[in-house]
Amino acid sequence: MAKAIYPGSFDPVTKGHLDIIRRASQMFDELTVSILNNSNKIPLFSVDERVKMLQSVCSDIANVKVDTFSGLTAEYARRTGTDVIIRGLRAVTDFEYELQMAQTNRKLLPRVDTVFLTTSLEYAYLSSSTVREVALYGGDISEFVPPLVAEEVYRKLEKAD
Ligand code: PNS
Repeated sequence: MAKAIYPGSFDPVTKGHLDIIRRASQMFDELTVSILNNSNKIPLFSVDERVKMLQSVCSDIANVKVDTFSGLTAEYARRTGTDVIIRGLRAVTDFEYELQMAQTNRKLLPRVDTVFLTTSLEYAYLSSSTVREVALYGGDISEFVPPLVAEEVYRKLEKAD
């Protein structure tokens, strides 16, 4: 039984993330979307809010779970008996950072490989930070995130005003 994790910030989850989640869920018996809890960045959403949004948008995918972790991805992968780390690659600009991260994780935990899925072209430009910025300045984010997430983003930004 092959277990994969898809670690990230998911602040918030985008349609690009969901595309990776759906495709990875078909490749492995169990996929855990794992939200990092110790990011240096100040997040828009709390970890609990991100968990709830991810659970809602993944509720129709039977073998996907949502979890949180602090510290190193490699340590989390070791602790949870993970076989594979999933990451999405949008463009060549992602590559250097992703390669360094995959090689570091492999050094820390040689048993576990990183598998990269190339983001579908329609989402290649998309990132959580783009979503936050477009919404902040009143733009339409309905193409970028599921409806429930769009509502939560606008609600959060209204409160911050
Ligand atoms: O969605 P993101 O922000 O691109 O995800 C980045 C993430 C969470 C996968 C990465 O920052 C990470 O794994 N952080 C945990 C700390 C760690 O393991 N660092 C060593 C690898 S360089």
